[in-house]
Parts: sequence; structure tokens; C-alpha cells
Amino acid sequence: MPQAVISAQNLTQKIQLADKSLSIFENLNLDIMKGEQIAITGRSGSGKSTLLGILATLDQASGGELTVCGENIAALNEEQRALVRLKYIGFVFQSFQLLPHLTALENVMLPLRLHANFQYAEAEHRALELLKKVGLERQAEQTPKVLSGGEQQRVAIARALISQPKIIFADEPTGNLDSQTAKEIEQLLFALNQELGTTLVLVTHDLKLARQCQRHLHLFEGQLHEHVQGGDHV
Ligand SMILES: Nc1ncnc2c1ncn2[C@@H]1O[C@H](COP(=O)(O)OP(=O)(O)O)[C@@H](O)[C@H]1O
Ligand SMILES: [Mg+2]
Repeated sequence: MPQAVISAQNLTQKIQLADKSLSIFENLNLDIMKGEQIAITGRSGSGKSTLLGILATLDQASGGELTVCGENIAALNEEQRALVRLKYIGFVFQSFQLLPHLTALENVMLPLRLHANFQYAEAEHRALELLKKVGLERQAEQTPKVLSGGEQQRVAIARALISQPKIIFADEPTGNLDSQTAKEIEQLLFALNQELGTTLVLVTHDLKLARQCQRHLHLFEGQLHEHVQGGDHV
């Protein structure tokens, strides 16, 4: 039987503002299977980043149930959720979020420093292997400011992979890149999904890209709509 790496039931995010309660989404139900590629689309402000942040356990939902790799997230405290992220999750941001004073290699190694049994030489070896995989072997000693946007995003992808996560979340990972570079980064994410069997949950504005994923979910007015892939209607 296919194995769900993420299972959400009645997932709800309401935010209490000074004078009213803002509902971003309500009662979302979603199962994501191991190895799947999922695209989430929706207009700006529809709640895509909020949803991704909750699925990635960076934020907590105000209601509903969420299981990530078998862990019941609502029952965990912040520290325990951080451990879940460390073990299972890689995150790629639109704005790369690299540390400017560290080299590409050091940025990629960084998550491993949080592991209790961190070993420098082994971490360095793994980071170099990943930089090779994303085509940046020669840039290992460069700091982010001398790298192009596409190269910075490749470093961020290598960093997301260093803990061998089960799931990669990417929030508009090509939003700051020119169209040719965006294509290369998309191909890289797909290739890694295929090669490593890592589940890929991708937020994108790009409907063409969304159609290339196995599943396409559209967030509209607080509800998720699943598009049948291969159909014309989006
Ligand atoms: N902590 C918050 N406080 C108030 N409003 C928020 C908060 N987080 C998100 N929002 C609002 O929720 C909506 C969804 O935001 P977001 O998830 O960033 O959308 P998207 O990524 O689809 O553009 C937006 O209107 C945003 O302003
Ligand atoms: Mg967003």
C-alpha cells in the first residue's frame, strides 16, 4: 500500500487579529504519498506559504490534525517539531536564505551541525558530494554574493538535501530567477525527486510547471481543489 508521508485532516488556520478573526483556510484534507511531486498554486495572498509552513512544521495550525512521517505534529512542542524538521524535512525558499558570510560548502553543511553526532570531515564530504550533484563543485569555497541567483538556489537545494530528508518543500523556488535559470532549477528539483525518491511539495505561480507535477492542487478561497493532470482545465 502506498505510504502517506503527510496526512492532514480538517487543517485550519485562523489568525486572531486585534478586531477580528482571519480565516486563511479551513478544514483542508490532504494526503501526500512518498515520492510524489505536488504543485500548489493559487493567487497571491491565497495562503500558499501559510499552508506550506504548516505542512513543513515551521508553523502550527490553529485546528485539525497533521501527521508528518508518522508523527502527530499537534502533540509536539517547538523543540520536538524542530527535531521532526531535522530528520524529515528540507525547505527551499524563494529568496535562497543563505548565510552571507559562509561559503557555499559551509552553508550546505550547516544543518548537519545541529545533529548530535556531527562529524566535520564526514559532513564536509557529504556537502561536497551534494554540491557536485547540483553542478557547483567548483564554487564550494565561494560566498553567496559572488554567486548568481541560480547558483545560490542550487546551494540552497543542496543544503535542503544534506540531512537526507523525506520531503522537500519549495516555496516559489524560481520566483527570483530569470526564465532560463528557473527552468534549470525546476529540472534539478524533478531530477532529484526521481533519483532520491524524495517527496516534492512545490508552491508555484507557473501553471505550466504545476502541470508537470504528478499532482496539482489549487488553493482558492480557503479550499484546496485537485486538478486532474493531463486535463486542459486549470
Ligand atoms: N501572521 C499573520 N497575521 C496576519 N495575516 C497573515 C499572517 N500570515 C498570513 N497572513 C495573511 O494571510 C494571507 C495568506 O498569506 P500567504 O500564505 O503568505 O499567501 P500566499 O503565499 O498565497 O501569497 C495573506 O492575506 C496574508 O496577509
Ligand atoms: Mg507566498
